[in-house]
Amino acid sequence: MSVDVAREGAVAVVTIDRPDALNALDVATLTELRDRLGELAGDDAVRALVLTGAGEKAFVAGADIKYMSGLDPEQAKAWGALGHEAGRLLETMPKPTIAAVNGFALGGGCELALACDVRYASSRAKLGQPEINLGIVPGWGGTQRLARVCGIGVAKELIFTGRTVDAEEALRIGLVNAVADPVLERALETARALAAKSPVALSLAKRLCNLALGVDHAGGLGTEAAEFGELFASEDAKEGLTAFVEKREPNFAGR
Ligand code: CAA
Repeated sequence: MSVDVAREGAVAVVTIDRPDALNALDVATLTELRDRLGELAGDDAVRALVLTGAGEKAFVAGADIKYMSGLDPEQAKAWGALGHEAGRLLETMPKPTIAAVNGFALGGGCELALACDVRYASSRAKLGQPEINLGIVPGWGGTQRLARVCGIGVAKELIFTGRTVDAEEALRIGLVNAVADPVLERALETARALAAKSPVALSLAKRLCNLALGVDHAGGLGTEAAEFGELFASEDAKEGLTAFVEKREPNFAGR
């Protein structure tokens, strides 16, 4: 197994484990990742997900370059589509996804991290989109998501030059939310906190935030206004608001 899934209560930790290649993704590993993410997306017992890489050195060193060197355009399209499927699952599953970037997150590795809702990096992490140095471009969402996370100016500079950034710079440009050692512990801390919140409210918050950069502003505001109202039909909203008034901790049932 090159993708390990561990459960800690309502938190799932997905670990990409291909140490010989710095956790670079070949077809078998990426297919398995896509499949595991699909299962976890539909599992209501999982309320938050952490994605990380095995070992000390790498999160994911990218798509497998040896495999890509033999692809024709049709095969490359299918390869790109598979990476996009994994990224879309991380981005749209109705629960928060957190990347614990424990080392190299290059090319497809940086793209998977970008597809997560939150990114934390270890102080040794190195991130970037070095595809240009291989004569190609990011193919698993990097040309779109890096600009959304860091702004178009930063995205163009990083994608055009292919240079990597260390953890400190990643934090400065907004590519990661925080730098922490050990990074997995930091990610788990946030995941546990999120898993205790209302999953109904959290999934709506994620869906609405995802609209922010994708639809016209008035449309996004209109959706928020409507969904905000609908949410008041949930038990969790009643519980959360009542608990505050009664000066006690809320206990969310997830309905
Ligand atoms: N694909 C396949 N194998 C990889 C790999 C990758 N992306 N990254 C590392 N490896 C392999 C190396 O080939 C090496 O294997 P061998 O021992 O069999 O030669 C092993 O992992 C260890 O790597 P290094 O010896 O190179 O380790 P290092 O510490 O000297 O360097 C590194 C580390 C800087 C990350 C370097 O491995 C590197 O530059 N890797 C490639 C990074 C990259 O360009 N990633 C983007 C890929 S393109 C992409 O992802 C396209 C897309 O958008 C979908």
